[in-house]
Amino acid sequence: MTEKEAILERHAVRNYLDRKIDPETVLLIEKKIHELNERSGLHLQFIPDAGNTYDRFMNKTMGLRTAPSVIACVGKEEEDLEQKIGYYGEKLVLYLQTLGLNTCWAGMFNKKAINAEVRKDERLVITIAVGYGKDQGRQHRSNTIGKVTEGKKEQPDWFVEGVRMALLAPTAINQQKFMIRLNEDDTVDFIDRKGPFSQVDLGIVKCHFDIGAGRNQK
Ligand SMILES: Cc1cc2nc3c(=O)[nH]c(=O)nc-3n(C[C@H](O)[C@H](O)[C@H](O)COP(=O)(O)O)c2cc1C
Repeated sequence: MTEKEAILERHAVRNYLDRKIDPETVLLIEKKIHELNERSGLHLQFIPDAGNTYDRFMNKTMGLRTAPSVIACVGKEEEDLEQKIGYYGEKLVLYLQTLGLNTCWAGMFNKKAINAEVRKDERLVITIAVGYGKDQGRQHRSNTIGKVTEGKKEQPDWFVEGVRMALLAPTAINQQKFMIRLNEDDTVDFIDRKGPFSQVDLGIVKCHFDIGAGRNQK
């Protein structure tokens, strides 16, 4: 499965089977995380036992309490930390999809209960629930391409495909608070229209855009 196919198949899944992730799959996850951490300087961590990470009232009503495992998204405090977490966290989410797993980004969780290593100069920004879903989730409602783009009127195919993939990106409460601007010289800017976790969203959106546009420069 390609990253693009993973984008098309991925949806947030909040209800999981009572099944631990297979040991050989865990090895693949650890390897991928190592590779992404080397590339990004982040400190993403696979936590095999989610424990009480999702014991908040809202988590229970939404179902996340059933997730067997969790990814802790940790990194050194710096200006673009949240965007970086979004970009590389989503690379991991798409990889997990190719392994037959399901995921849900989760900004709401119990910070005290999660068994993550957070060093002195680091911050735990967000989590990703992971496991075998009871179902595959469903397509979110979405803005149109016209609503999230601005700038140059003639949009080349690579740009349109990038935006199409960006509109399939998960965003907090499905807010899609971003704009993608095509400049006259064909460079692209991503604009944060501000909302909860919208900097993480923007990183996720960039990841999807790059895959759609066929530019994997990060
Ligand atoms: C940054 C971020 C934070 C999120 N936080 C939560 C959360 O705390 N609880 C939850 O149930 N879903 C959470 N989600 C999942 C979104 O609600 C979901 O991705 C969105 O509705 C779009 O649906 P999709 O993922 O199926 O495309 C979060 C998603 C993102 C990107």
